[in-house]
Amino acid sequence: MIKFYDLKRLDKKKHLIIIKKIKKIFNKGDYILGEEVSKFEKNFSKFIGCNYAIGCANGTDAITLALKSLNLPKNSEVIMPAMTYCSTAFAIFNAGLKPVLVDLDKNKPTINIKKINSKLSNKTKVIMPVHLYGSVVNLNEIKSIIKKTKKKIYLVDDCAQAHGASLGYLKTKRVGSISDISCFSLYPGKNLGAYGDAGVITTNNKRFYEVISNLRNLGSSKKFIHDHIGQNSRLDTIQAAILNIKLNDLNFLNKRRVKIANYYDKYILNKKITKLSYSKGCVYHQYVILTKNRSKMVKYLNKNKIQYGFHYPYAIHQLKALKKYFKNQKFPNSEKIAKEGISLPIDPNLSLKEIKKITKVLNNFS
Ligand SMILES: Cc1ncc(COP(=O)(O)O)c(C=O)c1O
Repeated sequence: MIKFYDLKRLDKKKHLIIIKKIKKIFNKGDYILGEEVSKFEKNFSKFIGCNYAIGCANGTDAITLALKSLNLPKNSEVIMPAMTYCSTAFAIFNAGLKPVLVDLDKNKPTINIKKINSKLSNKTKVIMPVHLYGSVVNLNEIKSIIKKTKKKIYLVDDCAQAHGASLGYLKTKRVGSISDISCFSLYPGKNLGAYGDAGVITTNNKRFYEVISNLRNLGSSKKFIHDHIGQNSRLDTIQAAILNIKLNDLNFLNKRRVKIANYYDKYILNKKITKLSYSKGCVYHQYVILTKNRSKMVKYLNKNKIQYGFHYPYAIHQLKALKKYFKNQKFPNSEKIAKEGISLPIDPNLSLKEIKKITKVLNNFS
């Protein structure tokens, strides 16, 4: 069986080092916002190339906290893509704001930037692109749209699937260093993942840094002094210790993902399969292909013992919880991915033999 993502195999060599580190924390007992958290915040901001990083409990909270820090009027509009994980939209609702959906570009996992203009209104306060599957949205183009409006609109990006991804033409400029605020999930299966829930927010702006640090800690920066109605959304110290160890491998593992994706791009050649087009600087959190007869493909992959995933089988406006907010709205490119998309294994530890097998099996699909 070729596993979709074999975390145990990937991290095996790290386990002993991690256990040693956790024992140190047991001896020290600094479980809440301990030394490892501030270390991780420093390490991650250095990796991204931004001024500040703030650890929090998970990626959904990262988005909610970022939006709450902007202190916007209730029901202000946030423009986001129609295809992403539910969290992007849920976090917007949880912050008391209103998501406005824009379709993806055809056969690309990223928002159709040209369609953003038609969704701008007087209530638009945030544009929230998602670097889905690690494919980078051209943030500079979105910045120029914002500039042309001559209004205060914030750029807050969902980087939950794009740790280490960079804007193609500026190789060194990583996502997380470009927008007003950037939000990362550190869920175990992400390119950088903890061994439980975790998240991190990055910014270059000192004021956002201070407010978000405060909000994630029940609105407090000093014991018993609560300046804001905050959340308990602190990054766990043990998770931070694990992340400090795993961050060292992120670049190497991202490069492996890119190599596997390049192989699929070059050698999967089957008219029944449509390949998506990914940005330069993509870190391939997922590698998604489209096929008209998905149920047949699923049976075929099962028969050939290749695990697969769906990311995601419902677009945002198709989710049961959200349908009522987007009545009669259609987003054909997002719906196509929901209906025809299959995520292939892109585990950085896949062997060449496994990659070749996956490619061969797909090329023989009829
Ligand atoms: C695009 C996107 N946004 C937000 C999230 C939410 O992150 P978390 O699961 O850590 O809350 C995820 C995680 O799956 C995601 O993929």
